[in-house]
Amino acid sequence: MNTYPNKVELVEVGPRDGFQSIKEFIPTELKKEIIDRLVDAGCTTVQVTSFVHPKAIPQMQDAREVAQYVLEKYPGLRAYALVPNLRGAQNAYEAGLREISYVISVSPGHNMANVRRTLDESFAELGTILSTYPDMKVVLDAATTFGCPFDGEVTLQQVMDYVQRAYDLGIRDIDLCDTIGVATPVQVERTVLALREKFPDVTFGVHIHDTRNMGMACSLVAMQCGLTRVSTTVGGLGGCPFAPGASGNTASEDFVYMAQKMGIDTGVDFEKLLDTAKYLREKVPGNYSGHQINIQKPQCTMG
Ligand code: COA
Ligand code: ZN
Repeated sequence: MNTYPNKVELVEVGPRDGFQSIKEFIPTELKKEIIDRLVDAGCTTVQVTSFVHPKAIPQMQDAREVAQYVLEKYPGLRAYALVPNLRGAQNAYEAGLREISYVISVSPGHNMANVRRTLDESFAELGTILSTYPDMKVVLDAATTFGCPFDGEVTLQQVMDYVQRAYDLGIRDIDLCDTIGVATPVQVERTVLALREKFPDVTFGVHIHDTRNMGMACSLVAMQCGLTRVSTTVGGLGGCPFAPGASGNTASEDFVYMAQKMGIDTGVDFEKLLDTAKYLREKVPGNYSGHQINIQKPQCTMG
């Protein structure tokens, strides 16, 4: 008999993971407006931007302005930004953020392509961030947990070793990211169960790209295995510029629909979120994997 949590924390990562896949610059005002709409829909945890090199991802050059806008307007929001290195953490801290997600890939090939560092270098830098900013909460984004576009298969042993390294540095919050959307529900189950058994005091989340239509299935299985944090993007907008083959994310509104119908509380208003997804798609052409953004008939929506 499967059990599900009564409540999950929906982490809306669209303003970072969705927007970073768009080449044409999205006006800062529109970014703020989308975040406003997400908060109005009930999102309480939002990855609002990333502090990366503006040459690597020009879309994120307004990170400071976006972060400061959000911090000032929504002091109660759990707002954070992705950073790839110490410099990014420093910029995020100076912008006023006290929570970041730091990204290290489980596979060396993707880590090099993404942040131009070996795993040793990235973990060493993580240690420096933790000691330099002791009041900064750090969630570790474990990119390519379920497979790598460069190295291929990622083994469970690699994931366990990776988490052990992070654990030894003091990390207790890790998002398992399926960067290119290759995971299957069985792989997610095996990975989550093994990790939860070995690291019971670590909070894990999942972040599944929907390349192969596995986003909902894998997120569902993760919840069955006891995880209560799921990252998604509004409209399913997505794609990693440094991971060939990465496509849209699991769509927030599709996930909220499922959760709500199953009696799992996300605190998010489905209709408002769906409106935001449709609005975003109208304003920003991109790769949207959401399903309900295509539904026109009112009887097919929630209610
Ligand atoms: N933000 C702004 N500037 C940064 C920076 C950051 N996070 N990190 C480094 N820089 C600057 C340095 O100050 C340095 O500037 P200078 O030449 O004027 O002195 C220059 O960039 C080179 O620094 P270095 O540490 O050697 O960076 P790099 O060239 O090896 O680039 C990253 C590495 C990680 C900064 C870059 O690849 C990056 O931002 N990648 C983005 C990854 C990403 O967002 N992926 C998608 C999400 S998972
Ligand atoms: Zn992602």
